[in-house]
Amino acid sequence: MTRKMLIAGNWKMNGLRADAAEFQAMIDRISTDQFESHDILICPPTTLLAKFASIAEKTEMNVGGEDCHWEIAGAHTGDISAQMLKDSGASYCIIGHSERRANHNETNQTVKKKAEAALQSGLIAIVCVGETLEQRQAGDAMKTVKSQIQQSLPKGANFNNCVIAYEPVWAIGTGETATSDDINQMHGCIRELLQEIGGEKLSQSRILYGGSVKPQNAKEIFSGKDVDGGLIGGASLKAKDFCGIVAGAS
Ligand code: 13P
Repeated sequence: MTRKMLIAGNWKMNGLRADAAEFQAMIDRISTDQFESHDILICPPTTLLAKFASIAEKTEMNVGGEDCHWEIAGAHTGDISAQMLKDSGASYCIIGHSERRANHNETNQTVKKKAEAALQSGLIAIVCVGETLEQRQAGDAMKTVKSQIQQSLPKGANFNNCVIAYEPVWAIGTGETATSDDINQMHGCIRELLQEIGGEKLSQSRILYGGSVKPQNAKEIFSGKDVDGGLIGGASLKAKDFCGIVAGAS
C-alpha cells in the first residue's frame, strides 16, 4: 500500500488578513502534479481559517485548525470546537503540539479527548509527539514517544483519519534537525508500535517529521522510507520556502 505524502504548514500565532496574499501565492505556485501526488495543508490561526478556506475552495489546497476543544460546544470562553473548525472549512486539525503541551499543560489524556472530538467532527487528527532534549540525552526518546502515542491516540484511529507528527521539541524553531538516522529510526519504531496497537489499518497512517524543516534539508528528510511528509512551522509562512519544501518531497 502506498501512502500519500502530507506536507503541512503550521502557522502558529502568525498571520494577519494581509497574509492571505502569501497563501494565495502558495496555491498559485504549487503545480497540478504536486497537488495530485501530495496532500498539501496550511493550518492558519483560527482568525484566518474561514478566509483561507474560501480562497482554497475549488483548489486542491487543504486548510486545518491548530487545536480544538474536546467538547462540541458549551461554556468554554475563548475555546474553539472541532465542529466549528469543520464548519469554517477545515479538513484537518493539529492536536497536542508540544507548544500546547508545554504552555497549556495539555496531557496525553487531554490530547486523546481532543483528537477524538476531531474525528467525531469529521476532521483528520494530526497527533503530535516528541521528546525534549533532556529526554533524548537521557536515552529516553523512544520510550517517551511510545508512551505519548499509547496514551494520546484517539479511539477509532486509522490511516484515513489519523496522522502522527514526530516533532522532537529541541528541533522546533531552533534550526536544529534530528539526523536522518535518528528520524528514520524513530519513524520505524512508531510504525511498529502502530502495527502492534491496530494492525495494518493503523500502521499505514502517515508519520510526519517536524522541526526546522527547510527547503535545503527537505529532500533528505523526506527520503526516509517511513517519513510520509512534514509539519512545517517557520518555513511555512512564506510561499517561496513552503513551495521549496513541497518540491523537496516531489
Ligand atoms: P519549525 O519548522 O519552525 O521548527 O516548527 C516546527 C513545528 O513546530 C511545526 O508544528
